[in-house]
Amino acid sequence: VIDVDTIRREEFPITRRGVYLDHATLGPPPTRHVSAVTAFLQRMSAEGLDDLFAISDEGVDDVRAKAAALLNADPSHVFFVRSTSHGVAVVAEGLSWRDGDEVVLYELDHPAGVFPWLNLADRGVKVRFIKDRGRFGFDADDVREMLSPRTRAVCVSLVNFAHGTRADVEEIAEICRSRGIWFVVDAVQAMGALTVDTSRLGADVVVAHGYKFLLSGFGLGIACCSDRALAELKVRQIGWNSVENPFDVDRILAFDMRFPSSAKRFEPSFQPLPQVFGLGATLDLFHEVGTGAIEKRVLSLAGRLVAGLREKGYEVVGPQASGPRSPIISIALRSDDERERMQRGLGESKTTCAVRESRVRLSPYFYNTEEEIDRVLSCL
Ligand SMILES: Cc1ncc(COP(=O)(O)O)c(C=O)c1O
Repeated sequence: VIDVDTIRREEFPITRRGVYLDHATLGPPPTRHVSAVTAFLQRMSAEGLDDLFAISDEGVDDVRAKAAALLNADPSHVFFVRSTSHGVAVVAEGLSWRDGDEVVLYELDHPAGVFPWLNLADRGVKVRFIKDRGRFGFDADDVREMLSPRTRAVCVSLVNFAHGTRADVEEIAEICRSRGIWFVVDAVQAMGALTVDTSRLGADVVVAHGYKFLLSGFGLGIACCSDRALAELKVRQIGWNSVENPFDVDRILAFDMRFPSSAKRFEPSFQPLPQVFGLGATLDLFHEVGTGAIEKRVLSLAGRLVAGLREKGYEVVGPQASGPRSPIISIALRSDDERERMQRGLGESKTTCAVRESRVRLSPYFYNTEEEIDRVLSCL
């Protein structure tokens, strides 16, 4: 059982402000994250970093191991990125494309998972979009239907940013694997909140920026890649740190460009070190609470929200309406009256949330309480 009261008091000052249900936009970093970032910056400021190379190597590897544990991955497959789109681009830019190659995407996906592929038009790559057709989601058969002998890659979000439907990534991964198609998963609306078992999933890259359910701010994200990615992708964003021995200061000018066998080859320079240690602190919190317990609680709170909304006559869109499988709930506003009622209720209950595609989007997390959910519902 999660000790929600203590966690709220010690780690989430935002809970004093009102009901925060907007983790799909921004996840507030816990207090221990802020302390870790601040302590590191203070040390940089007061002392410099005479152990910079060790921090950048073993220090970052400590946090890499925590990220690997979260994803049930081997640390050698985990690399840090600047953003979700950066992780997607490791595949989009790293493949050798032939004129007429095709990529399959979903038409309601976030631009972060779309632009890196559309950007390949000048290399002859065609993007084919799976149609939503008013379903707020798609299934593995939709992916199958879009495939052709020219399909080289499929990229989808694990959880859609707007309607919150969870994609059947396990089955899609299987389809891709059996045909040698590259599979990339944008997990930014899932990682932290839902179990993402990369070793079972077997996608070529799974990636999430830190600032949503990873509660870790901007400019640092976690990615995990397959063996095939390490064997076959060209490293396009190269830097001094991409190579086997970046800190061999006596041989800097040997320009020895051998890559390490691990995914560190995708890390061209220093990581944003304060953020890395902040992320490490947040991952410790997840570990203490238990990732299984977090997922269970997130889905239970989302379920409570959906049940209450439907009881009040609101329309929750898509498959989430019949039992949430993700932390994102999207409500269609069908009339001015409903819109007004919603606005007033959210204001009265001091709820922070978002509007996406003219629908209200609520996204709770494990430290929200049942009472908060009920308070919001009673105001709606
Ligand atoms: C599904 C999805 N992918 C990606 C992003 C953000 O992309 P990036 O990490 O590249 O900033 C968002 C932000 O809302 C998102 O919802």
